[in-house]
Amino acid sequence: MHTTRQHQTIPYPVIRRRTISRTYTKAGIFFPMIIALLLGLKGCGGPQGQEDKREQFVDSLLSEMTLEEKVGQITLYTSGWTITGPALDSNYRQYIIDGRCGNIFNAHTVAYNLELQRLAVEESRLGIPLLFGYDVIHGHRIIFPIPLGEACSWEPELARRSAALSAKEAAASGLNWTFSPVADLSRDPRWGRIAEGSGEDPLLGARFTAARVRGYQGSDLSDKNTLAACLKHFAVYGAPEAGRDYNTVDLSMRTIREVYLPPYKAAVDAGIATVMSSFNEINGQPATSSRYVEEILRQEWGFDGVLVTDYGAIAELIPHGVATDSAHAGELALEAGVDMDMQSGIYMKHLSDLVKEEKVDEQVIDKAVKRVLRLKYDLGLFEDPYRYLDPEWEKTVVHSQELIDHSVEAGRRSMVLLKNDVVNGSPLLPIKEGPARIAVIGPMADNRIDILGSWHAAGDPEMVVTVSEGLRKQFPDTDIRTAEGCDFYTGDKSGFAEALALAAFSDVVILAIGENYVQSGEAASRSELGLPGVQQELTEAIMKTGKPVVAVIFAGRPLTINWISENVPAVLWAWQPGSRGGDALADVLSGEYNPSGKLTVTFPRNVGQIPIYYSPRNSGRPFNPHDKYTSKYLDVPNEPLYPFGYGIGYSEIAYSNLNLDRNEISFGDSLQVSVTIENRGEYVAEEIVQLYTRDLVGSVTRPVKELKNFQKVPIAPGEQKTVTFSLHSDHLKFYDIDMEFVAEPGEFEVMVGPNSSDLLTARFTLAD
Ligand code: NOJ
Repeated sequence: MHTTRQHQTIPYPVIRRRTISRTYTKAGIFFPMIIALLLGLKGCGGPQGQEDKREQFVDSLLSEMTLEEKVGQITLYTSGWTITGPALDSNYRQYIIDGRCGNIFNAHTVAYNLELQRLAVEESRLGIPLLFGYDVIHGHRIIFPIPLGEACSWEPELARRSAALSAKEAAASGLNWTFSPVADLSRDPRWGRIAEGSGEDPLLGARFTAARVRGYQGSDLSDKNTLAACLKHFAVYGAPEAGRDYNTVDLSMRTIREVYLPPYKAAVDAGIATVMSSFNEINGQPATSSRYVEEILRQEWGFDGVLVTDYGAIAELIPHGVATDSAHAGELALEAGVDMDMQSGIYMKHLSDLVKEEKVDEQVIDKAVKRVLRLKYDLGLFEDPYRYLDPEWEKTVVHSQELIDHSVEAGRRSMVLLKNDVVNGSPLLPIKEGPARIAVIGPMADNRIDILGSWHAAGDPEMVVTVSEGLRKQFPDTDIRTAEGCDFYTGDKSGFAEALALAAFSDVVILAIGENYVQSGEAASRSELGLPGVQQELTEAIMKTGKPVVAVIFAGRPLTINWISENVPAVLWAWQPGSRGGDALADVLSGEYNPSGKLTVTFPRNVGQIPIYYSPRNSGRPFNPHDKYTSKYLDVPNEPLYPFGYGIGYSEIAYSNLNLDRNEISFGDSLQVSVTIENRGEYVAEEIVQLYTRDLVGSVTRPVKELKNFQKVPIAPGEQKTVTFSLHSDHLKFYDIDMEFVAEPGEFEVMVGPNSSDLLTARFTLAD
């Protein structure tokens, strides 16, 4: 329905800002009473009072809306991107004016979004402001490390800050909603989107996801430095069969609840404003029509925010085989509790008819609309629809120094040193005195795009400091030259000769290799995890020159690097560190920063080991080298190449004196677990001390170890420190045979150490 301007009966109070919008007053509608209601909000006393005001406001607005306008509020369409910037399909413009599209994604920059917001506020009958969503996953214009890399810092506070700064820059660019954080835990590096999560562990995943929510949203959604966050992808998207993106997921409810759900739950507990349903199926139902939306997300966890689909997921209910046609798909999604339709257009096309045919109850639509209106209200959009659209503020914040500084800091904290052998009498790294000549060889040497990683969205390549640029700044007196050697894809070896000549001419070779930014991320599953293209051959050829070589590997996932691990003396996993990756890398290679990251995902030796993770169950035939009939491979060890939690620095850190303050606790009690660490090297270090437990006998089988806590501890050269953890009986809970979340009495192992393999072990009992 298209209502002309003469019929406007605007019932609600956008407080229009004449300073920003000169044409704004032309709507000419001003409702002192309702404005007074809004202005009264601040002083209306207590959260309950505020909530009541919001409900009154939302109800009154809803009561004025036609069915088409309601459906418009639960419709989200994308802006496209042309060479010059975002561009909206002309149909969508008309939909905005007609009140049939209330939300836009992929549109950003103040100038552009201001224009669209004006359409909504001034040209539509009710003038309801638009939400502007975007995938601000690890930075907006200035990019921080990919989330998996950042998790390797084991510092949720770092992630909170990255999210807060991303929100600030994105909100200054006209956005009010980010499709982040990704809580999808994954044990499968074939899946390219492992790059977007925090790794394989539920505890780490939960802490990082919650920190990111707090970072994006702050304590007040209407603050112009914050965004509404979107938890995704609900649920268990990180476990597609065979690691193939979008593929079927088939997990036991025990594994879903115990392993995969905690990061999503942590986001809900942290107050996430919105959730995105995932593409996969869960227990036989596509997530977008799954009973778990209502049962787990809404009822059990109490989430009452907006649930949006992932892209055209409603339409995908048809190929999934649960909907006969698009109308049926829309009906199923709405019934399941999906509030907003991203991009499929199915709600827009069918919901009104479905109501008329009495297949859908209008009240269900109302519920969804109210959730969206509440969100807009919380974002402060009714108070000021141009809140995030201030061109001066955009200029001040975008690309600002605090973002740049944080990109360096987060980049260096996410890198993981995997190997550092002695070459010519001392460890190859750090490169202390600038050598006379450094060769930087590989497709990452001068690269200002792939260092940003997948989903860098509006990330700005012009702001990148490349590997060679970073090294040149760090070693101004060194002759630093680069050669690409090869690309990421092809079999083209024509660059080898130049690369080999450069290596021969140099004192140290930095091999800057790995994956490009589209070789991980969405729709980027791989069945082989070696270095793509001819980078392996390039590496072998360079090693033959006999020069000291440091392999710096940029990737969005673990790769199978057995040869490199055996043959190259120093290996640094740089992930995709973001805009200032070159600076971050130079800090690490020079020793200005002692690498402190540790892996949050297991590195397999080959693809056949996948899924491989640190916390399997023991089986009835655990591996025994003297018994053929135990669980193993004929052609590869069971152990990974690098275990979860692994990473070294420039100082050796020794662990000793694992001590428990008692050997028995009761339910409700805690145990103090302490260990001594000592920095035996010359570098100030930050050691990630990890605590695991094992429930030795349970009513159901239990993992051989589970991370229960960790601390990142600064420690000076020569210093000894006692690190203490409090372990409570609640930390020992799991889903028992009846799916009750309980701890069971009995004996436990507690293990503390620098990674999930090298652990000191003690025992205690949880008494009956
Ligand atoms: C599809 C992706 O799966 C999701 O993560 C993203 O937020 C949406 N597209 C919107 O771009």
